[in-house]
Amino acid sequence: MDIFRIEGPVRLCGTVTINGSKNASLPIMAASILAGGKSTLSAVPNLSDISVFSRLLEQLGCCVTRIDNGQLCIDSTVIDNPVGDYEIVRKMRASICILGPLLARCGRAKVSMPGGCSIGDRPVNLHIRGLQELGAQIQLKNGYIVAEAPNGLRGKEIFLGGPFGSTVLGTANVMMAAALAKGRTIIESAACEPEIADLANCLNKMGANISGIGSPRLVIEGVRHLRPVDYEVIPDRIEAGTFMVAAAITAGEITITNCRLGDMMAVVDRLRHIGITIEPAKTGCVVTCSEGIKTANITTQPYPGFPTDLQAQFMALLSLAEGNSVIIEKVFPDRFMHVAELNRMAANLRKEGPAVIVAGVKKLMAASVMASDLRASAALVLAGLAADGITIVNRVYHIDRGYEKIEKRLNPLGAKIKRKQIKGV
Ligand code: EPU
Repeated sequence: MDIFRIEGPVRLCGTVTINGSKNASLPIMAASILAGGKSTLSAVPNLSDISVFSRLLEQLGCCVTRIDNGQLCIDSTVIDNPVGDYEIVRKMRASICILGPLLARCGRAKVSMPGGCSIGDRPVNLHIRGLQELGAQIQLKNGYIVAEAPNGLRGKEIFLGGPFGSTVLGTANVMMAAALAKGRTIIESAACEPEIADLANCLNKMGANISGIGSPRLVIEGVRHLRPVDYEVIPDRIEAGTFMVAAAITAGEITITNCRLGDMMAVVDRLRHIGITIEPAKTGCVVTCSEGIKTANITTQPYPGFPTDLQAQFMALLSLAEGNSVIIEKVFPDRFMHVAELNRMAANLRKEGPAVIVAGVKKLMAASVMASDLRASAALVLAGLAADGITIVNRVYHIDRGYEKIEKRLNPLGAKIKRKQIKGV
């Protein structure tokens, strides 16, 4: 198992190019199921989650090849085993987004029910309800979702909102199934995330007829067939936001290229409030921190609100603000495993239900800390860059799920991060 040894504090300066989006790539890979044949996706990041999803597609019968430079070729001519095994789904919850495409392509699917995870209870009731509305018969058997559509799927008006707002992968699942359903589907309270818009654009390139893209009301006119596609996924806005915080927390200056600022308005708004300068540049922006870090209150929300996937990283940053900040988590109210670890680094964080009160401290101090999930581990790395001394981040595999060789991207900017293999942790 790998650990990071991070020597701090450092000041980061230089240029970084953002990779393609993990959370756009995964549902787009699932969309390849909908059309038999060879699709080529570009800008797919080389991450462990992408490898796991590739293996899942291979178990269904697809042939997946990584060509070079972010290109992934998926041949879905044969799908002869429409089953998502527990062994893979338990590793990666995003596996659930094969359910809709399999149902539409094969008329049946069996996918392991995902369990909870370290960011909280993560039900899939809205995915199931949406597919049932399209005419699927769904049962839960021995931990599996068993779905059938013997008479095909039919378009319908569907409300997909839940207690925490829209659902990202639920919208993906229902939209993909509806693309091949008979007639018109309207998804009300659809997720508006740029990754869902990217999926919809990709489906349209495959021959689907989806309008209202990027809005909470998607209108999908079902078509009989979809064709394989060549498609480039959008840049990863969460990776871009993580590098923005890296510039801010180290009082540095980073030029970020291949970044769509328009997808990051809430993030840019909070950073400017904190006192960080963000100047738009050719294909991205320049992020500079020249004064102290100011306090800010942040509430995570579905897009276009502030993303939950940057909550932990901003908590690390606000730990160093001059005064108190409040962070409220409205998407995953239990996503706070990083709080205790940041406190081990001398942050002063107090959890109160779905909120954390962040009392700013002058310095963070290095410590050995434990990564618990992808974004929490990013927060610990960021804290380690700013902390005095040697921080050890254990269980680095969490960060490898969503950031491609992050140490190789941060070190050229001035970070001092070493990856070490250790046994038995
Ligand atoms: N929810 C329900 N019922 C459902 C589905 C969701 O109540 O059937 C609730 C969830 O419990 C949560 C809220 O709705 O409280 C939002 O969950 P959502 O379904 O939108 O999350 P997701 O689709 O499972 C994706 C991303 C997550 C990201 C969330 C929110 C992918 C592969 N995953 O998950 O990304 O945090 O949307 O934006 O796209 C990450 O990259 O680190 C990550 C966790």
